[in-house]
Amino acid sequence: MVKIFDTNKISSCDKSVPYDKDKRTHPRRCVAFSRFKLCFCLSLICLLFVLIGIIILIAIVFSSHRSQKETESTITITVTTSAMTTTTTSFVLKSNWIINGDGEIGPCESGNNITNPTGWFSNGTITQVYYNNTFADQYFTDPGPDDRGQCYFYGQKPFSTTSMWQYVNITDSIDPSLIDNQTISYNFSAWIGGYASQADYAQVSLTFLDQNNQKIGSTIILGPVSNVQRSNLTSLLYRQIHGLVPNGSRSCLVLVTITRVYGPTADGDIDNISLNFS
Ligand SMILES: *[C@@H]1O[C@H](CO)[C@@H](O)[C@H](O)[C@H]1NC(C)=O
Ligand SMILES: *[C@@H]1O[C@H](CO)[C@@H](O)[C@H](O)[C@H]1NC(C)=O
Ligand SMILES: *[C@@H]1O[C@H](CO)[C@@H](O)[C@H](O)[C@H]1NC(C)=O
Ligand SMILES: *[C@@H]1O[C@H](CO)[C@@H](O)[C@H](O)[C@H]1NC(C)=O
Ligand SMILES: *[C@@H]1O[C@H](CO)[C@@H](O)[C@H](O)[C@H]1NC(C)=O
Ligand SMILES: *[C@@H]1O[C@H](CO)[C@@H](O)[C@H](O)[C@H]1NC(C)=O
Ligand SMILES: *[C@@H]1O[C@H](CO)[C@@H](O)[C@H](O)[C@H]1NC(C)=O
Ligand SMILES: *[C@@H]1O[C@H](CO)[C@@H](O)[C@H](O)[C@H]1NC(C)=O
Ligand SMILES: *[C@@H]1O[C@H](CO)[C@@H](O)[C@H](O)[C@H]1NC(C)=O
Repeated sequence: MVKIFDTNKISSCDKSVPYDKDKRTHPRRCVAFSRFKLCFCLSLICLLFVLIGIIILIAIVFSSHRSQKETESTITITVTTSAMTTTTTSFVLKSNWIINGDGEIGPCESGNNITNPTGWFSNGTITQVYYNNTFADQYFTDPGPDDRGQCYFYGQKPFSTTSMWQYVNITDSIDPSLIDNQTISYNFSAWIGGYASQADYAQVSLTFLDQNNQKIGSTIILGPVSNVQRSNLTSLLYRQIHGLVPNGSRSCLVLVTITRVYGPTADGDIDNISLNFS
């Protein structure tokens, strides 16, 4: 390649260029070049064509490789996404069976609108909202979980109450016979509160259901946390309960209810709702 494009050497064989006697290799080359001049020039032209051909070939191969790579990266992204989903699911199953119990999945409201929480069924205005949103209640600096993420759940402006709920299928990864011989216990917790001295409130309940989706035993309720319990401070307080999963349970219903008592908005708040089994 270098030799082909070394114009110095080629031009040094040009008769118009004066012979340099210090460069002793040149005369020999020039003799050889003159002898096979025509042949050499023809091969040079051939080489040039071959070279152009190679360049075009490389370009084609490269572009097809590129598009293949693009396809590959698309596939990789898809695989990664499903892998992430799987990871998230198994993580949720391990440490928290509730999907988006912490309000960190999906969009959060940064204004005065309604943004229903992701991963929950909802009725009414219940909103997944950013901390420090001045239209809502809780600031990062208010008492609450140390590690609270970016968002929490807020009532917004319901007629009277607003709610969200989800079903958890316990037998997804727990053998029903372990439930039925009373070996499995649950641990249910949440951070619950409200705004200043307002009596608006939030609560979350857990109801076990049998294989026919019939209620078993009594509903377990965390909260409400009253303004008196909060010492009239805007805050979230930790509430937790644990016990045995009742015989016959196959799934359960987790239901959050936020109730308006004072003013136009339901200033009941809740975050980090967690349910796990051991
Ligand atoms: C409020 O939400 C509604 C429906 O989700 C949407 O159409 C509207 O643009 C939102 N308004 C603002 C100011 O974000
Ligand atoms: C939704 O809430 C309203 C009251 O705010 C209630 O009448 C209605 O039954 C609720 N619907 C569901 C599906 O929970
Ligand atoms: C949230 O608001 C508080 C009180 O105004 C402020 O001290 C804090 O820096 C804010 N945090 C963020 C992340 O904006
Ligand atoms: C609350 O949720 C956040 C966001 O997912 C998480 O990082 C944190 O560990 C949770 N805190 C508690 C006290 O459960
Ligand atoms: C719960 O999960 C089990 C095991 O995957 C499945 O057989 C059952 O149909 C699920 N039930 C519901 C209500 O999704
Ligand atoms: C409950 O059932 C499981 C599975 O059938 C069994 O391994 C376990 O020993 C049982 N525990 C009790 C306390 O009966
Ligand atoms: C669980 O329920 C089944 C069916 O009703 C019953 O046979 C079994 O004895 C119960 N087990 C316990 C530990 O209550
Ligand atoms: C329940 O979970 C909390 C953390 O969410 C933990 O501090 C507590 O020890 C657990 N209780 C039981 C009985 O497992
Ligand atoms: C809390 O606020 C209520 C009004 O909502 C008031 O009656 C009560 O005295 C206040 N309590 C304290 C300790 O400030």
